[in-house]
Amino acid sequence: MSDRLSQKQKDLYLPLEVKITDITDLTQDVKLFRLEKPKGFFYSPGQFVMASAWGAGDVPISITSTYEIHKEIELCIRKVGQVTSALHALRTFDHIGIRGPFGNRFPFEEATGKDVLFVAGGIGIAPLRSLINLVVKQKRRFGRIALIYGSRNPSEALFMEEIERWKQQGIDVTLTVDVTAEGWQHNIGLVTEFINNQKIAFKSSYAFICGPHPMIKAVMRDLSFLGMSQEKIITTLEAHMKCGVGKCGHCYTDGKYVCTDGPVFNFEEIKRIGMSKP
Ligand SMILES: Cc1cc2nc3c(=O)[nH]c(=O)nc-3n(C[C@H](O)[C@H](O)[C@H](O)COP(=O)(O)OP(=O)(O)OC[C@H]3O[C@@H](n4cnc5c(N)ncnc54)[C@H](O)[C@@H]3O)c2cc1C
Ligand code: FES
Repeated sequence: MSDRLSQKQKDLYLPLEVKITDITDLTQDVKLFRLEKPKGFFYSPGQFVMASAWGAGDVPISITSTYEIHKEIELCIRKVGQVTSALHALRTFDHIGIRGPFGNRFPFEEATGKDVLFVAGGIGIAPLRSLINLVVKQKRRFGRIALIYGSRNPSEALFMEEIERWKQQGIDVTLTVDVTAEGWQHNIGLVTEFINNQKIAFKSSYAFICGPHPMIKAVMRDLSFLGMSQEKIITTLEAHMKCGVGKCGHCYTDGKYVCTDGPVFNFEEIKRIGMSKP
């Protein structure tokens, strides 16, 4: 790295080697990694790290834990390709490289006093979990809190025990799958089929959405149709990233860097920068 880079700039590119304290298989291809939290590593819901296995490169992964609650940093990683496979090959007590935390955060303070709706699809529950746990902890600050969580099938539904605890703490939970299986006692259908039933004041509520791109688009459109203000419909976007810090241009779309201007955007911003197009 060039000597002309300041120490601060160098630190942005230098992974911290942190110890894995635990790995849990959540599904066939999704693992939850618990990592020792380095001193001074502060983060907020919505932020991500660039996670690396030695020699394999690094990839953006949302922080799924909540700073105010969890002692460790938690990353929920689906194995899809080269880097995520290398991360999945790591074992407890191995070291993982992390750069960050990067990106902006969910603007949840603005939702104080209002109803809050979370809509998650598949592994999209991972970034939202960081925020949901914080909102549940500070439940009295908010109005009604509801979650709609959809998965392809019951075996792919994540964090089910934790979701049950949220329910016991007064969160309205709607669980649904595209394809049912024996033993599934909840709904069947797309998350959009359950938006209308939510007992929230749509016109003043905030919504936080994460999942596959077509799901995000459909949910944003439906909530807007139900009268929710577009600045209050908030999501987190995925993009190809290399640096994570606004330098390489890999995540640049229509005047915005997803890594530094996002990954959290509201519907109005998404429409303005053309990201709601297929
Ligand atoms: C801000 C941000 C936060 C993210 N948070 C998480 C997270 O919490 N957990 C998580 O598991 N992932 C998360 N991702 C996605 C993750 O970064 C990618 O899955 C990862 O970069 C894939 O890298 P790879 O080298 O393993 O796959 P590659 O070798 O790059 O890709 C292999 C194949 O998989 C496809 N592919 C790549 N990404 C995905 C994907 N997301 N889904 C399905 N197919 C894909 C590619 O098109 C290619 O065909 C996040 C992405 C962003 C931008
Ligand atoms: S990932 Fe390099 S500019 Fe965003």
